[in-house]
Amino acid sequence: MQKYYLTTPIYYPSGNPHIGHCYTTVACDTIARFKRMQGYDVMFLTGTDEHGQKIEQKARENGITPKEYVDPIVANFKRLWEVMDVSYDRFIRTTDEYHVKSVQKIFKDLYDKGYIYKGKYTGKYCTPCESFWTASQLDENGCCPDCHRPVIDAHEEAYFLKVSAFADKVEKFLTETDYLNPQSRVNEMVNNFIKPGLEDLCVSRTSFTWGVPVEFDPKHVVYVWVDALSNYISALGYANDEYNDFEKYWPADLHMTAKEIVRFHSIIWPIILMMLDLPLPKHLYGHGWINFNGQKMAKSVGNVIDPFILAERYGSDSVRYQILRDMPYGSDSNFSNEIMVNRINSDLANSWGNLVSRTVAMADKYFGGTLPEEREAEALDNELIDIAKALRDTVAPHIEEAQLSKALEEIFKVVSRANKYIDETEPWVLGKSEDKKARLASVLYNLLETIRICSGLLFPFMPKTCPKVWEQIGADSSLTAYDTLSGFGKLPANVTVHKGEMLFPRIDVDKEIDELNVLLAPKKEIREDEDLDKANVITIDQFAEVKLRSGEITACEKIKKAKKLLKLTVDDGRGGRQIVSGIANWYSPEDLIGKKIVFVANLAPAKLCGELSEGMILACDAGEDDVRVLFLDKDVPNGSTIR
Ligand code: MSP
Repeated sequence: MQKYYLTTPIYYPSGNPHIGHCYTTVACDTIARFKRMQGYDVMFLTGTDEHGQKIEQKARENGITPKEYVDPIVANFKRLWEVMDVSYDRFIRTTDEYHVKSVQKIFKDLYDKGYIYKGKYTGKYCTPCESFWTASQLDENGCCPDCHRPVIDAHEEAYFLKVSAFADKVEKFLTETDYLNPQSRVNEMVNNFIKPGLEDLCVSRTSFTWGVPVEFDPKHVVYVWVDALSNYISALGYANDEYNDFEKYWPADLHMTAKEIVRFHSIIWPIILMMLDLPLPKHLYGHGWINFNGQKMAKSVGNVIDPFILAERYGSDSVRYQILRDMPYGSDSNFSNEIMVNRINSDLANSWGNLVSRTVAMADKYFGGTLPEEREAEALDNELIDIAKALRDTVAPHIEEAQLSKALEEIFKVVSRANKYIDETEPWVLGKSEDKKARLASVLYNLLETIRICSGLLFPFMPKTCPKVWEQIGADSSLTAYDTLSGFGKLPANVTVHKGEMLFPRIDVDKEIDELNVLLAPKKEIREDEDLDKANVITIDQFAEVKLRSGEITACEKIKKAKKLLKLTVDDGRGGRQIVSGIANWYSPEDLIGKKIVFVANLAPAKLCGELSEGMILACDAGEDDVRVLFLDKDVPNGSTIR
């Protein structure tokens, strides 16, 4: 059996997964499922990239260890893949012991071969991206060329990987093979990174400890890319005893990533493999980003959409379909609630779902569910039959090239053709005359066969609903196998259909978008907070140490020196106190005077911009840049204990 090894990037568990993370994983899942249908022995790998300064910092901020920080987030990634029906074969965590061993061995081998040397790093460092840059690589404002945020100067002893020595070899690899796709990215890599002179890559750090220790010099940890990229071979058992699949699956048939890390996968990764004398992977596909409001959807930008909510509301298949259908090959896609809802409604509810439900309902209505065997063909049928028959071999090359949107477009051309065929043949008219029954049976059979072929090919995209379609059209699993999808006439002549649930209910678009705008906005950060909450539990006694009381704001004024601060006089039932609060962006003094609030009564007094503050009033985050004070009912006495 021929093997097929494909990988997603391993994701940073620095924040919870969002819909942007779903694209690569769902795309790979679709290809993996298609390849399995074609009879390949597939190995589909995904995982998490857990080391680095950023994770170390976040854990410190939360008062927990890096492992405690990442564990619930990794669990959430896994939960998302389950919800989204991602059929990965292996999940690697870079904190897995076997991976750590492999990385140490790889690093040592590269060092022993003379490809890693000790030097001093002086350069620009982008903390959020964990990337070092040379001055010439910075953007026009002297900021990180990837995320455009400020960089800092960094100097430290570090190990370097001699990538400069492989510039010619890697250029040849990129220009003379079809490794990197779309091909336009080849020019980008060669012109932007190789031609200007490939610089040796810093591959160790001493300024943080959350990483794989360099075995022979333990004050260094392996710096992110050697650690991260090695996952593609360590997960197969390269340089460890955990697995024994390296010979079988390596080289990878497809690495898929978004465009921002194509540089590492197209230049650094092949060079590391060349240095290790290992075969090079066959294909790398660098896709575009899911953008939201014109920017890459990313937690750091604060424009992420929660895929759990979408999957719960529309079903995971609809979400899979929308993100795959709307990502054009090689460029970015734009996400908005409107785009998503309209896509699901028009393609899945109105076109595909409607085709299935109409056809099954008519077979049920006119023939009690079982078609008679008499037939009456017409020339008109041939157009539909021909494109349905050809569909499998039209779709397969698109999948091979990771052109998933194109593949769906082709399938939906046939779905539309079938809907048009219903309009042309008017089965409801045929159903009225007894002598048209044979013709009606032909029409319905042709529709059922078209549905069988389309659903067989849609299965890798929508693995939850297609089996339900098969059940409805009376196709058992042998009739949706890959081999049967290029032939027309596989369902038995007297096939029996089973009316079932509506697969994709119609959406009232305007109403839905209004609801969605509310639903998606405030909830997006909540899950992550919940996870951190779980990792940061306190006892009831610890909580009781915080004295919360009710109070009334009797006076309030702005503080001239500080735009964000308001000075509040609070009747605390004990003679009054002054509290300074950073809420001037959201409230003016008139909004607050006379209001009852909750405040922390035993907070150590502090001076803020020269003003004494004895306590803190409670408020909550209410969206991206919005804050709401917690107000109490008017009749609550001042100074009451809140518990
Ligand atoms: N850990 C590195 C990858 C190491 S691979 C050896 C990393 N992680 S990441 O979590 O920041 O991003 C990983 C991948 O997530 C991107 O390459 C891409 O596949 C996917 N995406 C994250 N946001 C995305 C969008 N908004 N749109 C499309 N894909 C995006 O980089």
